[in-house]
This record gives sequence, structure tokens and C-alpha cells, in this order.
Amino acid sequence: MTTTLSSFPPQPASSIPVRDVRTSPADLLHYGRDWTHSFEPAPSAIALPESVGEVQALVRWANQTRTPLVPSGGRTGLSGGAVATHGEVVVSMERMRSILSFDAADRALTVQAGVTTQAVQEAAAAHGLFYPVDFASRGSAQIGGNIATNAGGIKVLRYGMTRHWVSGLKVVTGAGELLEFNRGLAKNATGYDFRHLFIGSEGTLGIVVEATLQLTGQPPAQQVMVLGLPALDAVMAVFEQLRQRLTLSAFEFFTDRTLHHVLATGAQRLFETSTPYYVLAEFDENEEAALAAFTAMTDSGLLSDGVLSTTQAQAQSLWRLRESITESIAAYKPYKNDIAVRVSTVPAFLRQADALFASQYPGFDVIWFGHIGDGNLHISVLRPKGMGDAEFLATCGQVTSQLGSLLTQLGGSVSAEHGIGLLKKPFLGCTRNASEIALMRQVKRVFDPNGIMNPGKVFD
Ligand code: LAC
Ligand code: ZN
Repeated sequence: MTTTLSSFPPQPASSIPVRDVRTSPADLLHYGRDWTHSFEPAPSAIALPESVGEVQALVRWANQTRTPLVPSGGRTGLSGGAVATHGEVVVSMERMRSILSFDAADRALTVQAGVTTQAVQEAAAAHGLFYPVDFASRGSAQIGGNIATNAGGIKVLRYGMTRHWVSGLKVVTGAGELLEFNRGLAKNATGYDFRHLFIGSEGTLGIVVEATLQLTGQPPAQQVMVLGLPALDAVMAVFEQLRQRLTLSAFEFFTDRTLHHVLATGAQRLFETSTPYYVLAEFDENEEAALAAFTAMTDSGLLSDGVLSTTQAQAQSLWRLRESITESIAAYKPYKNDIAVRVSTVPAFLRQADALFASQYPGFDVIWFGHIGDGNLHISVLRPKGMGDAEFLATCGQVTSQLGSLLTQLGGSVSAEHGIGLLKKPFLGCTRNASEIALMRQVKRVFDPNGIMNPGKVFD
């Protein structure tokens, strides 16, 4: 008979083989949750290892005592992948935040897992290079978490996801073994690439302790344009026009409903007239081509207004409108969807999703935004006044099931970049079939035979 986790008694925190272990109620609350806020944190202790050796000792101890572990980075996740609700020991990587080495010939930076995304970007810039994975939570999010979720963000259109930039990975597996994958090689045709299994595994296979990240040359100066669109079906037509005429780094979408919340936080309005839809495009500076595109699209009725940055400060304030969306609605504790379809399918998806929400969310404030140039849309639903939490969650879950069916039909994904965690588990089957999920369980068993790594996340 195999031993289950629950057959072992909880261990005293004093037996955890890590120097910095915390158990105060404030620490349990702080480290026990991520940005999801829809789960009650209840970890038994927080371990903050300072070395690979301590991580390995901790994982071995967890195997001996059958203690579940929740790996934890900057806890900016939005699917509950880093919440600890069942007496787990949270493994915070925040003390392991050293940049270990830089190699100019390799154009590679090797860092510990707890280094923030922004610190990696700044280290790259200090060497005249560029780390292109970027998103609003850059100051708090950590590389280990970025890797565990294969983080995407605002520049995926041009540079791809975190996966594209990881050339080496050091992990402690769920069995307590220290493994090093790929060692920074650009080419390595020697069988299964375990690096890519760990990227996006949401802490279910082991703990990332170090990563080698590839850097690239700094892009030329960027310019930003925000355009007002009268109709939803203009969004991808504008995208096509712009990508033919400019070298795009980002193509983002939001609605007037969405902008309304950002403006309520004191941000400056873009232009006098409001339009129902907006896109933000970032591109290699080219004012002439941008103005020509703007004129052509206005003449053909795709646009009704627009603003083009001429200074970096203006570019930043346009970006702020887009990047502050999540924070501007955080107090409402919205229900979030994070979907993806192929770029060619975006127009059909937008039409059908719009009809679905109009009929199923009457009187709800439905906030649309996202990285539409790569096929990713975020939908945040706000609870109508007077509706209880339970009814709100039930309604959103029911609409998400319908949204999931639509995504199955269109070959899309129920999680583009936020992961599955706890929140999206009921909908995993809309994107991955039963055979795939059964294979995932088997893969987990290979790396984590006792099931101690982030149990209950992604799948049961
Ligand atoms: C964003 C986060 C929510 O795109 O993914 O702002
Ligand atoms: Zn996003």
C-alpha cells in the first residue's frame, strides 16, 4: 500500500531544517497567499532557505515527514498557485536573491530564483543588454515564479514567453534530487528536455533554485500610440495595418469601461472624446510611418481618435493607463478569466464572447483588456451591488463553463499566462483532454513520488 500524506502527523516547525522559519500569524497570512485573495491562507510554517543546500535539506525532510510544500516567489500570481490553504510549509525564495554571474560571450545571466524580474532587467541593462519579459508586477514577481508559471506579459508578441529565455535551470526535484538542465546551451539534442517540463509546472514537480537567462540586444527607442476604435471588429484590422507598417513590440487592448476605472484612480484622460475600444501599440520609433498609418486608418473608418508619444515620459504615461488596470479594480476582488486563442481566431472569439457576456452577465461590469496581438484577453468581472459572494461566484463559474466550451470549440486556452493553480482547475479539461491530464499525473509521480510538491494545484 502506498503511504498517503494525511497518514503522517503534522511536524513541529522547530524540526524544519532551515535557519529562518517563521510562524507568526502575520507571516502565515502574508506568505500564505498570492494576489488571488479568494482563498483563506492556512500554512503551518514559512521556511526561507538561504542556499541550495537548505532547499535540498527541506525537501528531503518533507519527503521523510510527508509534509506538503508550497514554493513561493513574489506571490503576484492570479490563479492561487502559491496559496497554502491546508497546513503546508511555504518555501519562500526571497532570501535567495543573488545575481550569480554574467557572461558577455554567452549573453547570459545566472541568478538565484528569488531575484525579481525588474532586477534581472536592470542587471541586463547595466551590461548594455535587454531581458525582454515584462509585466506590471515586475518589481515584486520573482524569476523562480516567472519560470514556474512561464510568465508572459506585454512583449510576448515580439519576444515570446519566459520559456524562450531560459537556457539553464537548476532545480531540486520533489524527490530531493538536485538537477541541472541544459547548462546554458543554445543547442543540445540529447533527449527529453526536462527544463521545459519544469517551466510552467507551477511548483508541482520541484523547486527552481537557479536559472540561466538569455539576454538580447537593447531595442531602439520605442514610441507608443493609443488609438480609439468605434467598433470591436476593428481591433484586429488595426493590428494587421500596424504590423505591416511598423516594428511592433506590444499590441494591447482595453475598453472604455476598463479605462473608466483607471481614470477614477486619478490618471489623465487621453483625448476629449471617448470611444468604446482602445488599443495601445508600442513600436520602434518611426513617427512618419505611425502618422501615415493613423491617417490611412482614420480615412477608412477604423479609428476615431488617437495619441502618439513624442517623449519617453509620454510613452510611460500611456503605458500607465494599461498597466494600472489590474490595480484599479483590485478592491472589487473581480472574478478573472485569462484566455488565449490563435491570432486568426481572435475576431470570431471577440464576437462570440461579447454575445455570451451580454446575455449571461446582465448588469455586471465586465472589464476587458489584454495582450490581444498575441491572442490573449483578460476578462475581469465585478460583483454587482447587492449580490452576495456565493451567488456571484456561482454565476461567474457557470459563465466560465460556457466560455470554456467556446474555447474548446475554437481550439483556445482557459489560461493564457496566469496558470491553473487552484482557481482554474475546474476548467482545465476545456483545454487539455483526459489522456493529457492522466499523463501529467504520471509525470508528476516521476519527479515527486510522495506527492509533496504543491499538492492540489493544476490537477488533483
Ligand atoms: C496584465 C496582467 C493581469 O496583463 O496579466 O495586466
Ligand atoms: Zn496579462
